[in-house]
Amino acid sequence: MLDHDVIIVGGGLAGSRAALEIAQSNPNLSVAIVAKTHPIRSHSVAAQGGMAATLKNVDETDTWEAHAFDTVKGSDYLADQDAVEILTREAPDVVIDLEHMGVLFSRLPDGRIAQRAFGGHSHNRTCYAADKTGHAILHELVNNLKRNGVKVYDEWYVMRLILEEGQAKGLVMYRILDGQIEIVRAKAVMFATGGYGRAFNTTSNDYASTGDGLAMTAIAGLPLEDMEFVQFHPTGLYPVGVLISEAVRGEGAYLINSEGDRFMATYAPSRMELAPRDITSRAITREIRAGRGIHLDGRAGGPFVYLDLRHMGKEKIMSRVPFCWEEAHRLVGVDAVTQPMPVRPTIHYSMGGIPTNTDGQVRSSAEGLVEGFFAAGEAACVSVHGANRLGSNSLLECVVYGRRTGRAIAQYIQNRKLPDLDEAPYRQQAQQQMQALLDQPGQYRIAQIRQAFQDCMTDYCGVFRTEDLMRQGLDQLQTIRQQAQNIYLDDKAKNWNTELIEALELQSLLIVGEVILSSAIQRKESRGAHCREDYPDRDDTNCLQHTLAYYSPAEVDIRHMPVSITLFQPQERKY
Ligand code: FUM
Repeated sequence: MLDHDVIIVGGGLAGSRAALEIAQSNPNLSVAIVAKTHPIRSHSVAAQGGMAATLKNVDETDTWEAHAFDTVKGSDYLADQDAVEILTREAPDVVIDLEHMGVLFSRLPDGRIAQRAFGGHSHNRTCYAADKTGHAILHELVNNLKRNGVKVYDEWYVMRLILEEGQAKGLVMYRILDGQIEIVRAKAVMFATGGYGRAFNTTSNDYASTGDGLAMTAIAGLPLEDMEFVQFHPTGLYPVGVLISEAVRGEGAYLINSEGDRFMATYAPSRMELAPRDITSRAITREIRAGRGIHLDGRAGGPFVYLDLRHMGKEKIMSRVPFCWEEAHRLVGVDAVTQPMPVRPTIHYSMGGIPTNTDGQVRSSAEGLVEGFFAAGEAACVSVHGANRLGSNSLLECVVYGRRTGRAIAQYIQNRKLPDLDEAPYRQQAQQQMQALLDQPGQYRIAQIRQAFQDCMTDYCGVFRTEDLMRQGLDQLQTIRQQAQNIYLDDKAKNWNTELIEALELQSLLIVGEVILSSAIQRKESRGAHCREDYPDRDDTNCLQHTLAYYSPAEVDIRHMPVSITLFQPQERKY
């Protein structure tokens, strides 16, 4: 058995920031990160547009209160306002802290950190490193991990959270290199495992975003919060779905339909292309549904709209959003200096996740906390994004709540011993589970089942939802679940068997999908990213509450938790 004071699952921004905070609090602590990829390949590296903070470098009138209000309004009033206050108050400090670590932010001519416009933000407050902000931040954090003695188990897949008598005691993990199984015991376990974009067939997320941390939490009998709120990013490059940053619109690009109109004037006249993502994604989908989308040959009635950068000019495009230009050029052969880009909404972010308090400690219910278990970043739901996240608040959440959770863990473990743990049954069960997957005769290929599942989630739980549609989705999911019991693997080896990992990831995806659909069916209103055509209005009287979904293979049990409203009373949301 391996022993560490703290074990963190996930090497992206939230996990790395927390690990650093703990290691720096006491160099004698044994802090480890375990991740199924190398930390540098965590999905945080793909974050493009930036990180919001009221530095006031571009707009002196900005305040943390304005940032908090924009965030709460953007969330359609479902965000917990105590958590939003922490996020927005601490934002300038974490940016400066990153700069001191060596992060190369883009600069104003006078040398201060540059800030740009972003959707739903009332001031230019998004700090950035061209359109590679996640890359710039993650590389510095990972360099600092080494300097601070954090042990990294990279390319280990975590199979199970060990939770006994309400206390997280450790993990079961599997080394992809050679199939070795290890039990790790710790005084505190933290999940920073990111999102689940791969539950849908078109996503900006990487292949590793399969919701493993959420699924392990659900299997352990703990709730998942607000899983019905799934963010579509308005501008996924058609047809591949990769991200074309909101920064492109922040720098001035237009959204254009087949009639050449800047159609956002109809949907959000005061914000136009910089409306929040739920509103912009619905607007694009409505234009496409109404026949004002575009085909690749330029005819009307097609599946995408145009993102037009041409008026911005080559110099601005290449200096502010060079990576987006490169993506369109490399992947679909479009030169955005002279041609508009084809875009449509793509699955991007999970507003819901593992419920935590503002110290990152995981909730077992509306009132209870789990001993020794913490979470932060996209995997967690603290909840600063409520029903819809504003762009550039996600990197911010990872760093603010990564640091904060790290501090809370360092404090928490001070007077704790390593838990008592009998590793034998966990090791045996994990070995049997892996062997059973290798041995089972099966009928279906993993890719076949995964595709059917992703199509099901996309078709039945997309931008627009109804009870009928989602119930059909849930029925179809039961069939897919049965088929998934009956998969076979071509690769029978123990070394580098990525097919085996895909089989485990498929199990995570299926659990997450069922929780999303069940949570979405019970929320009988439209709020933020959850748009019900059968319940088109927000219903504060009956639904201004968080969903807590408890998964079991037989059913998903839904309960609720109050929203923290400390700063701003809910109002009608108009842009
Ligand atoms: O559009 C973007 O660059 C994405 C930013 C975000 O999701 O915060």
